[in-house]
Amino acid sequence: MSLKVSIPKETAQDERRVAASPETVKKLVNMGCTVTIQAGAGESASIPDYIFKTAGAKITKTAEDTYKGADIILKVQAPTHAELDSMKEKALLIALLNPHSSTSSVSNYTKSKITAFAMELMPRITRAQSMDVLSSQSNLAGYKAVLDAAEEFTRAFPMMMTAAGTIAPAKVFVMGAGVAGLQAIATARRLGAVVTATDVRPAAKEQVESLGASFVAVEDEEFKQAETAGGYAKEMSAAYKKKQAALVEEHIAKQDIVITTALIPGRPAPKLITEAMVKSMKPGSVIVDLAVESGGNCASSKAGKVVELGGVKIIGHNNVPSRLATDASHLYAKNLLNLLNLIIDTESGKLNIDWEDEIIKGIALTKEGKLIHPDFKEAKKPAAAKKRA
Ligand code: NAI
Repeated sequence: MSLKVSIPKETAQDERRVAASPETVKKLVNMGCTVTIQAGAGESASIPDYIFKTAGAKITKTAEDTYKGADIILKVQAPTHAELDSMKEKALLIALLNPHSSTSSVSNYTKSKITAFAMELMPRITRAQSMDVLSSQSNLAGYKAVLDAAEEFTRAFPMMMTAAGTIAPAKVFVMGAGVAGLQAIATARRLGAVVTATDVRPAAKEQVESLGASFVAVEDEEFKQAETAGGYAKEMSAAYKKKQAALVEEHIAKQDIVITTALIPGRPAPKLITEAMVKSMKPGSVIVDLAVESGGNCASSKAGKVVELGGVKIIGHNNVPSRLATDASHLYAKNLLNLLNLIIDTESGKLNIDWEDEIIKGIALTKEGKLIHPDFKEAKKPAAAKKRA
């Protein structure tokens, strides 16, 4: 019996992505899998059923038919209770399970007796780069954030010298120069803006400067130590935050556009822009808060809304990668395929998971219903998330 890989249509609001692409379907079929896709699953990512069918997928009418007998379920968002109930025992679910924000979901996987892999927990090691969904999706979000800002901004980005006068280039400030921030810098530069950026990780300075932007940060002793072994930011001390806020306050007042991307894994996003700072900006300025779903970097942003404060527009779109659903789906699906290549034995066409592999240890929350991830075994204690950060 070949492995049955199923891809249901996403049901979460604002979710336009799909966990498969024609390319990944073709490759999975070549690996000996049977691929089942729910009708309409790729519609909002501009991948119609017939394209999936041509690639070798079987199209099922209902979600129930899609989940039925599936050995592997590929999803974008975490499943609902009803979706979990449709999965067979010991099925392998691979998705963005968001385990830090809803620890109760981890117990759902134990109750359903399934194996659950959370893609956002992919370790940041060179071998796992091709499976790193946070990178593939954040990169698109960083690009889209600049376009979203440009749409609300009532001025141009590049300097223009015309017979009617000169237009000054827009000043863009990017806060958090990780994957999303670096792409935002590159995109704003391509549009002709004058770009500055900040981050608490010292490694970011060189990357920011290599993209032609200037680095703005409090570069003290704490800053020099502010990166975890995993390459993520640490929560900074109250004293550092105060110095950072003073520097940012002065800088922000002179900016036209601010794009914030600062995150700390497993914790609420750091608050970097106060209401007073928003009010210090010129009318017509725009802030894009890419961290809005993790609590927001800007005190005035609202998830899923564009709000205005003192003439400054604050954009808080949810699920920004989904706003580029086609590219986001293709890259996400490829990340999943690269993981499946690691765990499916192509000779036998069967699952062959090495539970001692660093990648599997990083992403596996449950194994056939047993909670195995060390961070979430202690999930009832608040220390779990801290340990990871
Ligand atoms: P992220 O999405 O967790 O955070 C975004 C950025 O916000 C980070 O650069 C972080 O340092 C910054 N930040 C956090 N608190 C801040 C504060 N108070 N003020 C200003 N900035 C703040 O991080 P992301 O983008 O997912 O990755 C961070 C880094 O990890 C990358 O730049 C890269 O060096 C490394 N990485 C390594 C990979 C690998 O080896 N496989 C893959 C992807 C990233």
